[in-house]
Amino acid sequence: METWKPPCPTLEWGVVVRVLVVGSGGREHALVRKLSDDARRRGRELALHAAPGNPGIARIAECADVAADDVDGLLALARRVQADLTVVGPEVPLALGIADAFAAAGLRVFGPGAAAARLESSKSFAKDVMREAGVPTAQSEAFSSLEDALAHVRTIRPPVVIKADGLAAGKGVTVALTLAEAEQALREAMEGRAFGTAGETVVVEQFLVGTELSVMAFVDGSGYRLMPAARDHKAVYDGDRGANTGGMGVFAPPRAATAELMGLVRERVFDRMQAYFRAHDTVYRGVLYAGLMIVDGAPFVIEFNCRFGDPEAQVVLELLDSDLLDAMLAVADDRIASHGLVWSDAAAVCVVLAAEGYPEAYGRGERIEGLEAVEDFARAQEAAGAGAVRVLHAGTAEPSAGVIVTNGGRVLGVVARADDLDRARRLAYDGVERVRFAGRHYRTDIGARG
Ligand code: AMP
Ligand code: GLY
Repeated sequence: METWKPPCPTLEWGVVVRVLVVGSGGREHALVRKLSDDARRRGRELALHAAPGNPGIARIAECADVAADDVDGLLALARRVQADLTVVGPEVPLALGIADAFAAAGLRVFGPGAAAARLESSKSFAKDVMREAGVPTAQSEAFSSLEDALAHVRTIRPPVVIKADGLAAGKGVTVALTLAEAEQALREAMEGRAFGTAGETVVVEQFLVGTELSVMAFVDGSGYRLMPAARDHKAVYDGDRGANTGGMGVFAPPRAATAELMGLVRERVFDRMQAYFRAHDTVYRGVLYAGLMIVDGAPFVIEFNCRFGDPEAQVVLELLDSDLLDAMLAVADDRIASHGLVWSDAAAVCVVLAAEGYPEAYGRGERIEGLEAVEDFARAQEAAGAGAVRVLHAGTAEPSAGVIVTNGGRVLGVVARADDLDRARRLAYDGVERVRFAGRHYRTDIGARG
């Protein structure tokens, strides 16, 4: 998988660096925001492009109307804008092989090839890898026959976790507390095709009780660098009640992420994955995201993602004090092991504002008010040294200039950074109060339990 890399003209000062960010959510807005602020801070000239982007991103990058899963279209766009680096936000283009196509065309890309991205695009593959690599994970078995899967859940006692094997936009997982729920989840995935072909194979997994933590790392052929841990909140309602979502909010760093625990995460997860990649001549370049369950102080991997988490990226990038582009170029060129990253010891909180009905069916087109009010508030807070507040767009549209409407389930992320978690939390919710749209809902307990 070693690929030819073009020479790196982009590190010389005075040269315009062209970066294309693929995706249209809060994660991509966070990436573009950070790249743009870093460039301004360092006096580097950056030409930022996004595809397809969103109205928030469009304020700082040039957006092209190319879908995030249109690999050929993205390749043509990267050539046209002469991208020195293409940063891939979402998993779908990675699973489709965007990194391989770009590398074959001699274009530098941040994100793993399709073979490595299978860690996310096939849960049964990820399980096999973890078993071989010795990475602790819940016991599991994969099934492609409904009858066999039903027979299996009848012999083991629920609670049990049923997972569609393929990509299901974060919705392919059911925690079944009873046998009836497990049977229903299996039937919906395998018979009802609730997740299309992604559910042709299901993984039936042991239910782990513990504390969830997301840990991401910049990874390349030279090694890896961990980012601060974050805690996602996947359930739709306060107190972790209700249906699973793509993530209703996140904060970093959580108290559970002690130095001792992070040491175990290194040893048992990332060192072992690195050894696995080396043993298989696989070069993984990009972000490896480990969704962990901490059981009695020990980390177990419940999922790997082959990209920045969303909303995790929205808080973790707030805590990166050093330059993001430099880190990504280091990854693209296999230099991350010797690359210095500087992390802030501040705290960051992101509260997701969701559309009425989300994560079930939801409407679009509700007018969003108050975005300027948050910007005024943010300026005042920054001037007072209280911290940073910003609104990142996740599912919005701009049908006419200056009119921003809802256009997705997760609409906006209100992100705040401050010296400690309590302050960051207060700032984020002060920001939340200023933004309104009909049917808006959000969790009020993001970061409340540290
Ligand atoms: P995933 O999409 O794999 O992250 O799963 C979604 C959510 O289901 C996770 O964030 C956990 O809350 C829960 N979950 C997944 N696997 C397990 C497991 N083995 N034990 C307990 N909860 C799980
Ligand atoms: N926040 C979980 C994910 O990005 O998959």
